Amino acid sequence: MTDSQASTIEGPAWHRVGPFDDAPDGTLHRVEVEGRAVCVGRVEGAWVAFDDTCTHEECPLSDGELDGRVIVCPCHGSEFDLRTGDVLTPPALDPLPIYDARVVDGALEVRLSPPPAAAEAVHEREDHVPEAVARSATVAGPSLEGLALDDIDLTDLDVWERRVPYDWLTLLRREAPLHWQPERDGRGFWVFTRYDDIVAVSKDFETYSSEVGGTSLQDLTPEEVEARKSMIDTDPPAHTRMRALVNKGFTPRVVNTYEERIRGIARGILAQAFRQDAFDWVEAVASEIPMWVFSEIMGLPVEDRRLIIELGDKILGNTDPEVVGEEYVVERALHDPELRKLPFSSPFSLDLIEYGRRLGEARRREPRDDITTRLVQAEVDGSQLGEHEFGLFFILLTTAGNETTRHTISLGLLDLLEHPDEAARLVADPSLAATAADEILRRAHPVHHFRRTATRDTTVHGRRIRAGDKVTMWYAAGNYDEEKFADPFRLDVGRTPNRHLTFGLGGPHFCLGAHLAKLEVKIWLEEMVPYLERIELAGAPTRLRSNFFNGIKRLPVRVRA
Ligand code: HEM
Ligand code: FES
Repeated sequence: MTDSQASTIEGPAWHRVGPFDDAPDGTLHRVEVEGRAVCVGRVEGAWVAFDDTCTHEECPLSDGELDGRVIVCPCHGSEFDLRTGDVLTPPALDPLPIYDARVVDGALEVRLSPPPAAAEAVHEREDHVPEAVARSATVAGPSLEGLALDDIDLTDLDVWERRVPYDWLTLLRREAPLHWQPERDGRGFWVFTRYDDIVAVSKDFETYSSEVGGTSLQDLTPEEVEARKSMIDTDPPAHTRMRALVNKGFTPRVVNTYEERIRGIARGILAQAFRQDAFDWVEAVASEIPMWVFSEIMGLPVEDRRLIIELGDKILGNTDPEVVGEEYVVERALHDPELRKLPFSSPFSLDLIEYGRRLGEARRREPRDDITTRLVQAEVDGSQLGEHEFGLFFILLTTAGNETTRHTISLGLLDLLEHPDEAARLVADPSLAATAADEILRRAHPVHHFRRTATRDTTVHGRRIRAGDKVTMWYAAGNYDEEKFADPFRLDVGRTPNRHLTFGLGGPHFCLGAHLAKLEVKIWLEEMVPYLERIELAGAPTRLRSNFFNGIKRLPVRVRA
C-alpha cells in the first residue's frame, strides 16, 4: 500500500522526518510534512510535533523556546500547551495544531493528525454570547435616554476627569461602530468601539500603522515621530526584531520566578499601610507595589523609586495641569518644536531616558541577575539593543508598566468596595484571585484607547477611511461589548472566559508586560483578602484629567477597627 492509500483508509500517512536521535530536551527542528511546516521538539525524552506557524502572526515556533510541555513563540510570547494545542498566554487566540509523532527503528516519524489528547481537547474560545444570555443581563448598562451621537465629544477632558463616559461608548458601539470624532486642535479621528473591530485593527498593522503617526493622538510630523519613537511606535519588521529581543525578559517563565518576591513586596506594603487609621490608597499602596516590583526585577536601587514615580507621573499626566504644572501641559508643549520631538512632548522624558541609559551601561559592564541584564545581553540574529535604544525602551517600560498597574490596583479596590458581594465572594474563596484579576483588568482598562494611522484607503461599516487618517481603538468600549461578554456591566470575580482587550489583544503590540501586570494584580488580591472587609472609602476619588489613561490620583480610605 502506498502512503496516499494509507491516508484515505487509516488517516494521514506517517512521514519520516529525521533521526535526531540523541537530541537533548528543549531541541526544536523545523521539518516539512506534505508541504506543511511542522516543528518537532524534544520534551522529557520524547518527541512532540506541532504546526511550526504561530496562530497569532505566523512566526516560526521552531525559533521559540520550549518550557516543559509549553512552546513559547519568539515574536510576541504566545504560549501553547503541547498536549492539547490550547493557548495558555495571548496574544494568540486560536489553538495550535498538534500532530502525532513516533520513533520507529531510531527514525522520527510524524503524521498530520492529532494525538488522542489533542483530538479530544475542547478549545475554549469565546466567540459570541448567545442572544438569550445577552438578554438575561442582571446589571443594566448606562442609560442612553435622550442621548444623541452629536452629544459625544471624546476629546472633552472635563468629562473624563469626572467619569468614564460609558453611555457615550455604549451608544457608539450600538449605533455608530465607526464614528468620526472632530478635534478642536487636531485633524479629527476615527473611533472603533466594537470588540471584533478592535482586534481586527490591532492585527492589521499593514493598514493601520503604529509607525506612521505614532500611537498617541497628537498630530506630529514624520521627523518628530522618528525622533521620539520607541518600540510601541514601530511596525513589523523593525518591531519584530525589537520585540524578539525584549520578549526574553518578560516571558511568563521569567516573570514567574519573581512570584515570591512580588508577594513579599505586596505583603510588606499592605502591612505598613494598614498600620494607619486612614491613608491615601494611591500613595501608600497602589503606586508603591508596581514601583517596588519594577525596581526589584529591573535591578534599580529602591531609593530611586520615588524619583521614577514622580518623573513618570509628570510624563504621563501631561494633560492634567495639577500633575504636570500649567507650563508643561501638552497643549502648550506642542507649540515648542524641541519638546515635540520628545516622548510625550515632555522635557521630563530626557531624565528618564538618561537614567535608563546609565542603568543599561552599568549592567553591560557588570551583569547581575535582573531583567535589565537580560535585556542588554539579549541577542537576535547577532544584534543587541543599542545604548540609546535601551534608554528609549526604559522610558517605555517605566511609563507603560507602572502607572497602568497602579491605576488597576486603585480602580480594582474601588470596584470591590462598590460591590461588597463580590468582595465577600473573593474573601470566602481566595482561589478566585486569578479570575478576579482579569475581571478587574477588564473593568479598569487603565488605557482607554490607542491610536493607529491608516496607510491606505479602506471602507469599514460603509464608511471610507482615507490613507493618513487617525484611527483609534477604544478598549474602554470593547471590554463591555455585550456580544462578547455575558452581563458585561456586572463585576463577576469568577468570570471565565474573559478575553478582555485591556492589553490590546490581537496584534503584534500586545502588551509586553501583560503577564507581569496580571501576576501583580493577582498577588495583590490574594494578599488583600485579610484586609478587604476592614477597609472603606473615606472620600471621593480624584480622577486624572485624561482621555488616554483611566487614572486615579487620590483615593482616601479608612480602616475599621
Ligand atoms: C495593567 C497594566 C497594563 C496595561 C493596561 C497595559 C496596556 C498595554 C496596551 C493596551 C498595549 C498595546 C499598545 C498598542 O497596541 O499600541 C501595551 C503595550 C506595551 N506594554 Fe503594557 N500594559 C500594562 C502593563 C505593562 C507592564 C507591567 C509593562 C512592562 C513592565 C508593560 C510594557 C508594555 C510595552 C513595552 C508595550 C509595547 C509592546 C509593543 O510595542 O510590542 N505594560 N500595554
Ligand atoms: S506571532 Fe507568535 S505570538 Fe505573535
